[in-house]
Amino acid sequence: FAFTPENQKWAEAQITKYPEGRQASAIIPLLWRAQEQEGWLSRPAIEGVADMLGMAHIRALEVATFYFMFQLQPVGSVAHIQVCGTTSCMICGAEDLIAVCREKIAANPHELSEDGKLSWEEVECLGACANAPMAQIGKDYYEDLTAEKFGEIIEELRAGRVPVPGPQNGRYTSEPL
Ligand code: FES
Repeated sequence: FAFTPENQKWAEAQITKYPEGRQASAIIPLLWRAQEQEGWLSRPAIEGVADMLGMAHIRALEVATFYFMFQLQPVGSVAHIQVCGTTSCMICGAEDLIAVCREKIAANPHELSEDGKLSWEEVECLGACANAPMAQIGKDYYEDLTAEKFGEIIEELRAGRVPVPGPQNGRYTSEPL
């Protein structure tokens, strides 16, 4: 694994923000940049970041495996969808959203769809409980979902369009609900 020259320069700048001997504190931004560059975090990428920071590989692996935001296997080329399955979302229909994922993307989490464009997983609370059920796609939240609306969003993604994020029931618009 190697960062692109631009990312390498950026990574080195991050490392200088921390005191001597504390370079490991830059682990999360560097892993994040590696994932943005590659689409997911391979073992060589994690180990390469660890080497840059003078960390044991296992320490970097501990961080990478702790957070949902890090993907440890290839994801869909268009989008990786994270469906919240925690209490508020579960009560409000997360299982219906997961059923949509199984039908429209792949039978199991972390599997690629047949066209390679999409993948999905269930994650813990994403902090948008008031707008349950919800899913994160890329860096955006899609909230107040129904199975039907979620299915439409997936089809939009598959067609190469970017669905409008945010509440999907008109919660913040002037239109009547
Ligand atoms: Fe789903 Fe909190 S329970 S966002």
